[in-house]
Amino acid sequence: MRLAILSGSVFGTADFLADEAAERCAAAGLQVSRIKPASVDALLAADAQAILVCCSTTGMGELPDAIMPFYSELQTRFPLLTGIPFGVIGLGDSSYGDTFCQGGEQLRELLLELQAREALPMLRLDASETVTPEVDAEPWLDEFIGLLQNG
Ligand SMILES: Cc1cc2nc3c(=O)[nH]c(=O)nc-3n(C[C@H](O)[C@H](O)[C@H](O)COP(=O)(O)O)c2cc1C
Repeated sequence: MRLAILSGSVFGTADFLADEAAERCAAAGLQVSRIKPASVDALLAADAQAILVCCSTTGMGELPDAIMPFYSELQTRFPLLTGIPFGVIGLGDSSYGDTFCQGGEQLRELLLELQAREALPMLRLDASETVTPEVDAEPWLDEFIGLLQNG
């Protein structure tokens, strides 16, 4: 199973989490393409059978600048990803209230519009509660890996 892993980050946490996730998924036997910086061409070239996105939130619920070109291009080119299982790990801070994890949520909604299939409900990691998101993500990741391998 070919899995593409992308990230969008301001300060590096989401990038680091995606790197760690790539190692964990590869160790579990998945064929991982860690696409960095996120790029539509690279995603399509990877011919992914599954997609994982790790993305933080900045501003007032906005996507990090680093992943904006990917998001805009995905919206413009609109390559259908029909039935492709995906998961999103959103990084945010609940002290921002309504905009908590909105960056990840925007990507999630766009992937759904492209007809990809959410394999597992989005994981929302709260920077006001944890300083080790890569550890907190492990149970979710293991479930995600299991779903890809079994279904
Ligand atoms: C200027 C700024 C604005 C932020 N805005 C939001 C926000 O609107 N919603 C949210 O959930 N988190 C927000 N955050 C929190 C970050 O998303 C969170 O700290 C995240 O772990 C950062 O990950 P990164 O290192 O990958 O950028 C903001 C952080 C900063 C510094």
